[in-house]
Amino acid sequence: MQDYREFLAEILVPEDTLQQKIKELGEEISRDYNGDDLLLVCILRGGVMFLIDLTKHISVPHNIDFMAVSSYGIGARETQRRARITYDLNTDIAGRNVLLVEDIVDSGHTLAAVLDMLEARKPKSLRTCVLLDKFDRREVVVPVDYLGFRIPNKFVFGYGLDIDEYYRNLPFIGVVNLERYISS
Ligand code: IMP
Ligand code: MG
Repeated sequence: MQDYREFLAEILVPEDTLQQKIKELGEEISRDYNGDDLLLVCILRGGVMFLIDLTKHISVPHNIDFMAVSSYGIGARETQRRARITYDLNTDIAGRNVLLVEDIVDSGHTLAAVLDMLEARKPKSLRTCVLLDKFDRREVVVPVDYLGFRIPNKFVFGYGLDIDEYYRNLPFIGVVNLERYISS
């Protein structure tokens, strides 16, 4: 695989900016759910970095659980219109206050599908916490209750977000120069 520096067009959100915002989100969530039950549901795999840093800044008692959905076909650049659960929660969410933690909302299809599936399980409340919002690409209306950053329509990677399953480990959000990226 290529070193990311070969195709990094720019760093869109540097590490310190990310961490500062996540701290603020954690504090806001702590205020909003103070005295209430809370279950964070992380959507794998992209949401993992965000969940781990976010949970450290949430000062009220809460649970975490994970689910995975497939929403992209081959590689990372082709949207399927539907999401399918590939790994389900181990928690019964009926009557719980659920906060979905997701890396990015692009067309909105993935989040919309996940919200539908979870709503059917009768949680007490269901909200979303999204790190990145590619607002210009939205095809379906989805509620974003807690937002990190609104970003332009560019393909980004790092901090959980992958290009062909690599580069999720990077501590910042970078933009890909697609002419320099060699797909293998
Ligand atoms: P949506 O269903 O179009 O909203 O797509 C959401 C999913 O697409 C996210 O959970 C990501 O996995 C993936 N995705 C969308 N945009 C990007 C990007 O710029 N980089 C990496 N993954 C992305
Ligand atoms: Mg994802």
